[in-house]
Amino acid sequence: MLLAVADRLDGSGRLVGIDASEAMLARAAGEVRARCLRDVKLLPMDAHELDFADNSFDYVLCSFAFLAFRDKRRVLHEFTRVLANGGSVCLLDSYGWFFQHDPRWTWLEEVLRSFDAVPERESAPYGPGYLEAALKKGGFDALAMRERSCQLLFSDEQEFWRWLWSHGTRGLLEAVPRDRLKELRQALRSGLAARREADGMTHGTLRAALARGRTTHSLQSGR
Ligand SMILES: C[S@@+](CC[C@H](N)C(=O)[O-])C[C@H]1O[C@@H](n2cnc3c(N)ncnc32)[C@H](O)[C@@H]1O
Repeated sequence: MLLAVADRLDGSGRLVGIDASEAMLARAAGEVRARCLRDVKLLPMDAHELDFADNSFDYVLCSFAFLAFRDKRRVLHEFTRVLANGGSVCLLDSYGWFFQHDPRWTWLEEVLRSFDAVPERESAPYGPGYLEAALKKGGFDALAMRERSCQLLFSDEQEFWRWLWSHGTRGLLEAVPRDRLKELRQALRSGLAARREADGMTHGTLRAALARGRTTHSLQSGR
């Protein structure tokens, strides 16, 4: 996401990207080099403990990570702290699981449930208004809220399996005992093949919500 922002800024601002994962940062660094981007810094950091001075930034963009944070209140507090007065925060994330966004994928939830991979409480996933509500609760003035759907396309089972391990659904796969993973993969292979469409691909939908807010710095007393 940082790279998309860099393209838009076109050198008119300085960007700092953080991630807790060194591997993710290394991939981003490769892209930064390949695109010859200047004024982009990448740092390993936990969003719960930002190693930046107060009032350091005009904008905070948190992309596809918010729902994974252990203590969302604390992270929002950190965002407030590092933002200049009147600075903006933008939370962008999917909500619920992708297989709950598209009736063509109910089969996957059934398969995962049969492997005890989807916890019961997940039957009531976060809704699209969740990010906006979190911002308001975190003391931000909520400015805008949007929803977008994007198309998912899988050409084969191998691509799909790798994709499942590459983001939040990884947590579900990790809940499956190792000695049952082969069986799970076989069930997914059959499920995917049965739903292949006329173009030879399996289609899906991913919904994401974006909430933007502005800090008023009224939380200062709580620091
Ligand atoms: C789905 S990826 C999104 C990556 C990137 N932000 C983007 O939008 O392209 C989620 C990322 O959140 C990172 N992450 C999860 N918890 C974190 C935390 N507490 N602090 C910093 N990064 C975290 C993960 O390491 C992972 O790279």
